[in-house]
Amino acid sequence: AKPNVLVTRMVPQENLDRLRERFDVEVNTEDRPLTREELKSKVKGRDAILSMLTDTIDGEILDAAGPKCRIVANFAVGYNNFDLAAATRRGVVLTNTPGVLDDATATLAFTLLLSVARRIVEADKYVRDGKWTGWAPLFFIGLDVDGKTLGVAGLGRIGKNMARKAAAFGMKIIYNDVRRDAELEAALGARFVDKETLLRESDFLTLHVPLIPETHHYIGEKELAAMKPTAVLINAARGPVVDEKALARALKDKVIWGAGLDVFENEPKVEPDLLGLDNVIVVPHVASGTTETRLNMGRIAVDNIVRVLGGQPPATCVNPDVLKK
Ligand code: GLV
Ligand code: GLV
Repeated sequence: AKPNVLVTRMVPQENLDRLRERFDVEVNTEDRPLTREELKSKVKGRDAILSMLTDTIDGEILDAAGPKCRIVANFAVGYNNFDLAAATRRGVVLTNTPGVLDDATATLAFTLLLSVARRIVEADKYVRDGKWTGWAPLFFIGLDVDGKTLGVAGLGRIGKNMARKAAAFGMKIIYNDVRRDAELEAALGARFVDKETLLRESDFLTLHVPLIPETHHYIGEKELAAMKPTAVLINAARGPVVDEKALARALKDKVIWGAGLDVFENEPKVEPDLLGLDNVIVVPHVASGTTETRLNMGRIAVDNIVRVLGGQPPATCVNPDVLKK
């Protein structure tokens, strides 16, 4: 029999067609994530699973899948939904989709940055609501972006892409990460700073750290208080990196000027206090959402499944210890 693959949510058709050329494929065609119970029952007996970032893949799910399961390929670069140790113990390869979504994700983050600075959503609503009475010199005053300081927390592929885009606006780049990047420092004149300096000096602070225990609530009440009252916070990483309640209070009390958010602590729920504020823009976790990017993410996930079920190493393994077994 052909190997059997579960796809937990509709992905681009071309990706599914490639899987179906080789494998028996079951896809969740409901327009929603599988519930935990559905996931547990649907993974049973699969050789491979193509998962979404909304699926928690832990020991219980892998045990429900059973010993045939060789790979879980995430349709995402982030993989905080994976229990790496549980998979490694069971000999299951886990993969993500790095590289292909850096442009789309940084572009969305930069779109949020510009839109918050120039109050685009608020201004659009004003016109639609019929409130506009004519040009005025002190009307919808925003923030300059050109020449300002961009702080990047997490200088991975996406953070670097964001820094390059900002450089084209003449922005000064400062960053904090667990390691320095001499190449980017030379190329953009970027300056490595500690977290305190990053908070204090950034006019725009953009978050690109992975969600790991060390980055949970990386931005909370104390950090917001350390930022400039004219600062803007952008989060297109993972919601729990920011204490959302503390952010709502800070935006309400004008501790910082504004925020642009693609991700939330308890998706799809959004802190209700945020939704009443004009100085925050909220979009529903869509940073990698372009036709080509989603197709390329699916391509990597499918390639990894084809490789692993064909006895080859995956291209983008996130638990590489498993390959030594
Ligand atoms: C999206 O959030 C991703 O991790 O790909
Ligand atoms: C993080 O996952 C990155 O690629 O920057």
